[in-house]
Amino acid sequence: GRGESKHPSLPLARAERKPLDRKKKHSPRHQRENLLKEKNSSTATAICPCATSAHASLKKSLPPHPPKSKNPVINRCPIEERMPIIMEKNIAVIWGDCSSPEIVKQTLRVLDKVAEKYGHTFHYTDAAMGGEAIDKYGDPLPQHELDKCLAADSVLLGAVGGPKWEGLPGEQRPEKGLLRLRAGMGLYSNNRPAKIWPQLAPASPLKPEIVAKGIDFIIVRELIGGVYFGKHETYTLENGEKQAVDSMPYSEHEIERIGRIGFETAMKRRKKLCCVDKANVLDTSRLWRAVMHRLQAEYPEVEYSEMFVDNCAMQVVKDPSQFDVIVTENMFGDIISDEASMITGSIGMIPSSSLGDGTRGLYEPIHGSAPDIAGKDIVNPTACILSAAMMLRYSFGMTEEADAIESAVNKVLDKGLRTADNMSEGCTCLGCTAMGDAILAEI
Ligand code: IPM
Ligand code: MG
Repeated sequence: GRGESKHPSLPLARAERKPLDRKKKHSPRHQRENLLKEKNSSTATAICPCATSAHASLKKSLPPHPPKSKNPVINRCPIEERMPIIMEKNIAVIWGDCSSPEIVKQTLRVLDKVAEKYGHTFHYTDAAMGGEAIDKYGDPLPQHELDKCLAADSVLLGAVGGPKWEGLPGEQRPEKGLLRLRAGMGLYSNNRPAKIWPQLAPASPLKPEIVAKGIDFIIVRELIGGVYFGKHETYTLENGEKQAVDSMPYSEHEIERIGRIGFETAMKRRKKLCCVDKANVLDTSRLWRAVMHRLQAEYPEVEYSEMFVDNCAMQVVKDPSQFDVIVTENMFGDIISDEASMITGSIGMIPSSSLGDGTRGLYEPIHGSAPDIAGKDIVNPTACILSAAMMLRYSFGMTEEADAIESAVNKVLDKGLRTADNMSEGCTCLGCTAMGDAILAEI
């Protein structure tokens, strides 16, 4: 449980940060720094090939680029080469409800192993959100807990909710804490990859010939607008009958910023973007299309298409290989991403990142808190562990470290190690801790 955690809450403010352990003289970090000094010793000026926003903010805090060398290895992106030196990161950790603390515990073990191996220091600060916050403070996300997340470099979350809090009114439910956290951090862009691990093909409910065509797409889900953030009302009509209304507002700027992420994501991949909506019925969808058409002119290289969400639900199981990037509003993205996860073998494998305009993000598995299996040590920690890998990659620019985690997961799957959710014949079924051990052993 929580009490056993070896990660005490640490203060977040920069001035209060724990100094680096100077005793670790021969840590990999020092070796890397020395290597870097050697690399810095030649002459001409290199132009950084990277132009992501994560890099942009780091560039400010880094010394000028190292000079160009004839050695192609040395000429790898200098920002990425040096980013491992920026090694002190504050991570707010939301342990979540029901079976969630079990997966978060394994994820922190993995992060610690990465820190040890690459010489980084991660400080963890527990933040309460969801059921835990309701129990402690009577509010699914009190301001002081949101403040902890806003003060961190990034936030790691398991999953929230459970039967214990189901009877509560909408505003006080654990899920409301999550929605408020996303909105409070300005995280409008949710990236949910649906990529099949080849080893898990037998666990996919789709026919082998459909799976063989490949499943590798990303759902870019708008995260802080639409019906989840519109007015929710239940009232009594004159005849005594109750009526409820949920409204679905979208303004142009909200559509444009997520639409742009859709196009940018497609540009980095196979350059195909599909806007999923219900434009035959909804005004919001028709506005989405109008804004998307404007953006389309800026991205002539992207093959842009549009699809109604009901058809999309069907196409995802009929021929998922047709998709590269899907961009869609909040609720459609919620639904289609659950469906997409299932065809890849298990929802227990799918991580997600949520980002806004800066580099601070929220990283969480897309699955729920699995109350039915809580406390049994059988929940799959992989989606949460892969979410931490996404955090390293997208918020901290730690490419090599993220690769290390993903390749560890790959090796574990190669060995036929599984959890109950993605088990298939001839494989070995592990519990949550044992799966954590197995992944750790490969890092
Ligand atoms: C998800 C979840 C949440 C959402 C719930 C718990 C509010 O289903 O992350 O997909 O709808 O976004
Ligand atoms: Mg969902």
